[in-house]
Amino acid sequence: MTTKSRKKIYEGKAKILYEGPEPGTLVQYFKDDATAFNAQKKAVLDGKGVINNRISEFVMTKLNNIGVQNHFIKRLNLREQLIREVEIIPLEVVCRNVVAGSMAKRFGLPEGQQLPRSIIEFYYKNDALEDPMVTEEHVTAFNWANTQEIDEILAMTLRVNDFLSGMFAAVGITLVDFKIEYGRLFEGEFSRVILADEISPDSCRLWDSTTGDKLDKDRFRRDMGNVIESYTEVAKRLGIMGDMPKVIEGGITS
Ligand SMILES: Nc1ncnc2c1ncn2[C@@H]1O[C@H](COP(=O)(O)OP(=O)(O)OP(=O)(O)O)[C@@H](O)[C@H]1O
Ligand SMILES: [Mg+2]
Repeated sequence: MTTKSRKKIYEGKAKILYEGPEPGTLVQYFKDDATAFNAQKKAVLDGKGVINNRISEFVMTKLNNIGVQNHFIKRLNLREQLIREVEIIPLEVVCRNVVAGSMAKRFGLPEGQQLPRSIIEFYYKNDALEDPMVTEEHVTAFNWANTQEIDEILAMTLRVNDFLSGMFAAVGITLVDFKIEYGRLFEGEFSRVILADEISPDSCRLWDSTTGDKLDKDRFRRDMGNVIESYTEVAKRLGIMGDMPKVIEGGITS
C-alpha cells in the first residue's frame, strides 16, 4: 500500500499517523518539520525525519530487548515505522538528570547543574493550554490515569532513564533530560501501559560529555545552527549511520 492511498488518522507537528495494514496497527511517518515554543517557531530541516525514524527505531528496539514494552513493531522505510495503536495517556512525562530548559527558568537554576537525583515531571498534553505542569493529584482527579498506571509510568520511566543514560554515556553523550509518552494497549477488557511516540534528539537533551556541545533540538530552539549535523552525530555515535542515506544541504541523496 502506498502512503497516498492510506487513510490519515492524525497529523501532528513532527509526525503523521496513517492507518496500518492490520487492525490495531498504525504507520508513523516522520516529517522534516521542526517546531518549538508551542509551534510559534517553525522550520523544515531536510532529513530530520529520516534520522529521527532511525534513532527512535534503534532506541525502542533496545528498550524492548530489556523488557520495556513499547509500540514499535518494525521500520518500513526511510521515514515510516509500523507501530501498535494505543490510547495515548494525555501526559508528557519528563525525566531530568541535569538542570536545563524550563527547569532552569522556573527555579532560577543554572543550566548544567547536576540534580541530586533524577526527577520525573508530568505535563498535561494540551497545546491550547501550553502543556501545563501537573501533579499526580491532577492526573488521578481528572482521570487521565489511575494510580496503578502512574506507578507503572514512574517505574518504566526510571528504567528508560537508566538504560538510555548508560547507552549515551558509552558514546560520550550526557542524557540531560527527555520527554516520553505512554499509551494503553487493550487486551479484551484489560489494558496495560506501554511506551509510545518517539525517542530522538527532538525529545531528548543530549550534550557532548567532553565539550558540552548541544546535540539536540535546543540547537533549533536557540538558533545555534548545525541542527541536522548534530542529529547525524548522535546517530553516528550510536553506530546506526551505516546504511543511513547521506543528508546533504537541500535534501537527502537516497
Ligand atoms: N502508538 C501510538 N498510538 C496512537 N497515537 C500515538 C502513538 N504514538 C504516538 N502517538 C501520537 O501521535 C502523535 C504524533 O504526532 P506529533 O508528535 O507530530 O504530534 P504533536 O504535534 O507533538 O502533537 P500532540 O500534542 O498531539 O503530541 C502524537 O499526538 C502522539 O501522542
Ligand atoms: Mg509530539
